[in-house]
Amino acid sequence: MVKITFVDAGGTARTVEGEVGSTVMETAIRNGVPGIDAECGGACACATCHVYVDEAWREAAGEPEPMEEDMLDFAFDVRPTSRLSCQIRVKETLDGLTVTTPAKQG
Ligand code: FES
Repeated sequence: MVKITFVDAGGTARTVEGEVGSTVMETAIRNGVPGIDAECGGACACATCHVYVDEAWREAAGEPEPMEEDMLDFAFDVRPTSRLSCQIRVKETLDGLTVTTPAKQG
């Protein structure tokens, strides 16, 4: 199991366990983490699973694919650390990953 911490816009942190092979978005939904709507169910077609990856985890989480970049254009307040959480695969090297959910979601 891989621990993932979700921090909401107000600064409240929730640490949950994610399954290797699932996505960060699925981990949030499964654990009732607020702030991630995931309207399209992970198809990279809604941008309501937008998160900010903690700077320290940016490299490990990787850069967005072109399709994700395009969809991020529809997210609010996009920053250099923005990712769509349905496009981040949970893996052992992401144990401890911290992401922040934007104020506009959930
Ligand atoms: Fe829709 Fe991620 S869940 S883009």
